[in-house]
Order: sequence, then structure tokens, then C-alpha cells
Amino acid sequence: MKQKKSIVVGLDVGTTKVCTLIGELDADANLEIIGIGTHPSYGLKKGSVVNIEKTVNSISNSLEDAKLMAGVDFNRATIGIAGSHIYSFNSAGVVPIKGSEITDEDVDQVIAAAKAVVIPSDREVLHVIPQEFIVDNTGGIKNPVGMCGVRLEVKVHIVTGAVSLIQNLVKCVEQAGVEAEYITLQPIASSDAVLSSEEKEMGVVLVDIGGGTTDLAIWKDGSLVHSHIIPVGGNHFTNDLAVALKIPHSEAERVKLNHASVLAETINQSSHITVQGIAGSRPREISLKVIANVLGARAEELFGLIKGIVMDLNLDSEITGGYVISGGGALIESMAPLGEYLLEKPTKIGYPIPFGGMTKIMQNPQYSTVLGLLLDASKKINNIPKEEHESNLEVFNKIGDSLKGVFKGIF
Ligand SMILES: Nc1ncnc2c1ncn2[C@@H]1O[C@H](COP(=O)(O)OP(=O)(O)OP(=O)(O)O)[C@@H](O)[C@H]1O
Ligand SMILES: [Mg+2]
Repeated sequence: MKQKKSIVVGLDVGTTKVCTLIGELDADANLEIIGIGTHPSYGLKKGSVVNIEKTVNSISNSLEDAKLMAGVDFNRATIGIAGSHIYSFNSAGVVPIKGSEITDEDVDQVIAAAKAVVIPSDREVLHVIPQEFIVDNTGGIKNPVGMCGVRLEVKVHIVTGAVSLIQNLVKCVEQAGVEAEYITLQPIASSDAVLSSEEKEMGVVLVDIGGGTTDLAIWKDGSLVHSHIIPVGGNHFTNDLAVALKIPHSEAERVKLNHASVLAETINQSSHITVQGIAGSRPREISLKVIANVLGARAEELFGLIKGIVMDLNLDSEITGGYVISGGGALIESMAPLGEYLLEKPTKIGYPIPFGGMTKIMQNPQYSTVLGLLLDASKKINNIPKEEHESNLEVFNKIGDSLKGVFKGIF
């Protein structure tokens, strides 16, 4: 019997939290969130798995909570990947057009030509994302099928990752009982949840400040032109506080979540809080200005790294839409004004764009990645003709093989 609804799942295995989102997709492509499960993550460092057992445990707990809330079971998910092993670059390919009109086959061939670059055997292609097609000398074409010409060129963005680290993540997800059906670069997922198509068209940098890494996705003319993972995240802010104030990490995290700002200029000189020192020592009074100075220095360094990357790529004048900061690290007070001052471009906090079933709790920059992964999972199901929207299992069987392709570089 045909079922009208499909279940889609986004799974974000982050450095500080694992989050599962379950969505229900109807035949008209309306997506409704029906389950969420968030669990602290203990087995990752800077976005990469360092302890399989702890990671599997966190994933299993998050999956269980989401399944319980949604009242459904599933065995496949779209997962996110980041970590300092990710490396991306731009490439191009050219083919002669065989017939009178460009066909899907020509497009496949030109993309294959753009992909034909030497990649070390310990690296795997995760995404090959077309930026623009050029037919003869006309550029800026998003879909060339049906156009006439003699020469087809494509510019693409290629994202690669270390095979072993990708496999570690996939292994953890599989040990938790779920197949990693698609793997998406985390800042691409966050961009889908947070940025409007106008922003991507104007030129914008999505900055996702997570716990272990800060992930960049740079968009121009509606296409991804660059992605970059910086191995500095919210945990570094916490560590700085712990070292500077000589307090335990857990106390530093509490102070950061409740009393932190990165702009000391906006803090009243007389504002103080009580902090608990390391074991045995007495509680102390600390000025909020001192805390803001410590965090402000780290934020300044991070914005400097971001600006350096954009400048090195000569993209500064291209990003008229400025910077959109997402991820849990965006929640430290005054991140946007400090960013705007240092980056010299409009800078704002990126909140996920609402859709069906999204509660207020989820409209938080911390959930950008997992919401984007869910959207990605639903788009991939949407790519299948509507008449094929049968039971989940049947749909998945049809596309199943294509995704083994994460490791074969299919985008
Ligand atoms: N209200 C808040 N104020 C300040 N910082 C916050 C707040 N909420 C969360 N954070 C910080 O955000 C970070 C976690 O962000 P997020 O949940 O996006 O990371 P993650 O996805 O687990 O990690 P990653 O993407 O690096 O793998 C932590 O460092 C946490 O301290
Ligand atoms: Mg994250």
C-alpha cells in the first residue's frame, strides 16, 4: 500500500552535542519536524572522532530520544562532517558538445572532467558542487541542459576529507544502528538553514562557531565559492577563561554561558560575579570587564583568521551581504558588533529560518547545522519523482546505491 509520508533524518555529530532531527515529508514536499534528540558529545575533538565508544554512546542516546518523541523508527540519516582534515578547492572542466543541444550526459561528462584532479589516496571527495556553467563564451549559467553551443565548461567547488576520519564517523553512526546515507559538509548544511537565496546571490560568508571548530562557507552569485574549517571554536573561549581566571573548565563554561561578552567597553566597571576556584580554594569576585577582555582577545583572533582567509581569496569586495554568524559560539554577547567592527562588513547572528514544526527552542544558532542536514535529507528525497514516494523503505531502496557514493565523490 502506498504511504503519503516519508521520514527524513538529520544527524549532527558535533564536538559538544549530538543532535538528531526527524522530519515527516508529505507528497507535496511539506516538511514537518516530529522529533528531536540532543545529547552531550564526549568522543570528539575539533570535529573529529577521538573515542569511538563514547561517540557511539552519545549518538545512540540522541537517536533514542528523537525516536521516542517522534514515535517512529528509521535506519538511515544524513550526517554532517567538519574537522580540520577537510580541505576544499575550486576546479574546472571542459568538454565538446556532441549533439546540437546540451544533454544531461554532457553535464555529467563535464563534471567528471572537472573532478579528474589528482587527490592523494588518503583523501576522499565529499562534494563536487557546480558553481557555473559556461557555454561557448557565455558564463553564469546554472543549468545548461537544452542550450546550443559547441563547448561546455564548468567551474566546481570540490570538498575532500581524510578517508580514515570520515570512516571513523560513519563507523560510529553505523554502530549506533543507522546508515550514514548522505554526508554533508556542516557549513553547507548551516547555510541552508540560515541564509536566504538573496544573501547567497549578493555574496555572504556563513561563519558557524561550534565547540571545536569554526566552519566557513562563502557564497557568491548563488553558488558556494569556498569552504574552510578553522580549528578554533567555543571550547577555546572556555579554556582561555579557565586558564586566565584559574578556575575549573566546568566553572569557566558556566561563566561563559551566563555572564560573558566580547566587548569590554560595554561592561560597567563595577560589575562583578563570584566564581568557584579550583578544588579547595575559596570563591572569588571577578570583574565582568576582565572576563570580556579575555573572551574579546580570542574573538579578535578568530575574526582576524576569518578576515585573513577572505582577503587571501580576494573575496572581500565580493561579499556585499557581509557575515552571518551561527553555531553556539555566536551566542556570546556582542559577537556581531565586534565582528562588524573587525571584519568591516555588515555582520549579524544567523538564526534558522522557520519551517513546519520548528519550536522556539530550535530557532537557535546551535541548531543551524542539524536543521540544514534535515533540509538536505528532504531535498534528496524530493529529487525522486513524486510517484515514487511510496513507503520509505522502497524509496530508500531506489536511491540506496547512489549514496554509497559519498565515498565515490557523487554530489
Ligand atoms: N548561550 C551561550 N553563550 C555562549 N556560548 C554558548 C552559548 N550556548 C552555547 N555556547 C557555546 O557554543 C559551543 C557549542 O556550539 P555548537 O553546539 O554549535 O557546537 P557543536 O556543533 O557541538 O561543535 P562543532 O560544530 O565544533 O563540532 C560551546 O563552546 C558552547 O559553550
Ligand atoms: Mg556544529
